[in-house]
Amino acid sequence: MRSLRPGFTVASLLTGLATLGALLFTAPAAQAADAPLRDLADAQGKVIGTAVTGGKLTGTYAEVAAREFNWLTPGNAMKWESVEPSRGSFNWAEADQIVDFAEANGQEVRGHTLVWHSQNPSWLTNGGFTPAELRTLLMNHIDTEMGRYRGRVEAWDVVNEPFNEDGTYRQTIWSDNLGQDYIAEALTRARAADPSAKLYINDYNVEGVNAKSTALYNLVRSLKERGVPIDGVGLQAHLILGQVPSTFQQNIQRFADLGVDVAITELDIRMQLPATADKLAQQAADYRAVMNACVAVDGCSGATVWGFTDSDSWIPDWFEGYGAATPYDENYAPKPAYHAIAESLGGTTQPGDGCTATYSVVNQWNTGFTGQVRIACTDTALSAWKVNWTFGAGQRISQAWNANCTQSGTAVSCTNASYNGTVPPGGSVTFGFNGTWSGSNPVPEVTLG
Ligand code: XIL
Repeated sequence: MRSLRPGFTVASLLTGLATLGALLFTAPAAQAADAPLRDLADAQGKVIGTAVTGGKLTGTYAEVAAREFNWLTPGNAMKWESVEPSRGSFNWAEADQIVDFAEANGQEVRGHTLVWHSQNPSWLTNGGFTPAELRTLLMNHIDTEMGRYRGRVEAWDVVNEPFNEDGTYRQTIWSDNLGQDYIAEALTRARAADPSAKLYINDYNVEGVNAKSTALYNLVRSLKERGVPIDGVGLQAHLILGQVPSTFQQNIQRFADLGVDVAITELDIRMQLPATADKLAQQAADYRAVMNACVAVDGCSGATVWGFTDSDSWIPDWFEGYGAATPYDENYAPKPAYHAIAESLGGTTQPGDGCTATYSVVNQWNTGFTGQVRIACTDTALSAWKVNWTFGAGQRISQAWNANCTQSGTAVSCTNASYNGTVPPGGSVTFGFNGTWSGSNPVPEVTLG
């Protein structure tokens, strides 16, 4: 029996349904979600951190931040304009909150940042101070902030973004007034302010081997030769989809060979919106490449993401039309990038683990049929999906709904529509299609990505 038509007898209808039932294909049983990233990282002796916003540390945001990460960086709370908005008047509330949260959850803190050209209070930048006054202000700032958290902040980005793209020193309030040795002065002062803290210079566009990273390399080498305290470099890694530098690992290795730690400090990978299943897959590959480069080098201590959810990322505000840069979507659903990070830290999840796709033929007549695919998740979630299959008997899709389907030869690929990419834990999404068949209409094996 191969046709099912309205108007048949109940008996033949039941026989037909039984036949269809036997044809139903279900993907392999869902695998349990993997261990949290921090447990995987601990097992590798690596750090996995996130930037956080103090005001958001409740509910799901706090749960995920505590469960998945073993380091925290205050995204803004420790910047000069945040801690001393007017001269001599300090506001430590958010920074304290984050340090307390970290201690309560067995996490280390990365202090960010002491000496920078940006996010300084206007009383400082517009104060008309002499170089001597600025030197005193800077040294006091280092003493005050590092002193407050002495012994509680594991590492400090002492100096942030000192270089131009061509490897020359950036002109800033500090280099202009103190000379370019402000970097050595700040590091020396920082060592005295908290001898237990690891001291870093942090910059962006220094992930691959290029003029800027070579300038940083030469600076670190000369600081070490001079006996200036320097424990590590921070590679921010604000990357663009598909543009992980091919020399990332080689660059990490050359810093490690200098005898300093390498930390990936502000990892995010932005894409042009809207996010699609293909872009999210590319992003996962990019996150994997970054993490693999770090895992491969002993001297790389680990990575911190600059916000773990797309709802708490600086990208949409700073790069018009870009976003979706972090490992979780705006509703805290782990994206393919999350699973890629887990895998590079030794985990075994695949995107879509905990989710299954089931193909069924819901109606069939002489040359046509209606099919559907149901995607259901148990303990994990999807933020976008793609279902692929190969038709085994010449079937062709003529029309689909609730998905965008393309067929090339026997290969069919369906991705979510703009409105149904999210499948929450315990939820499901169904899409349908009409097709043609002749001879037989076997149910294909579907894969979910
Ligand atoms: C960003 C914050 O995430 C934003 O909230 C803020 O508006 C601007 O600064 N390099 C750095 C970080 O070192 O401090 C920056 O953080 C991102 C670029």
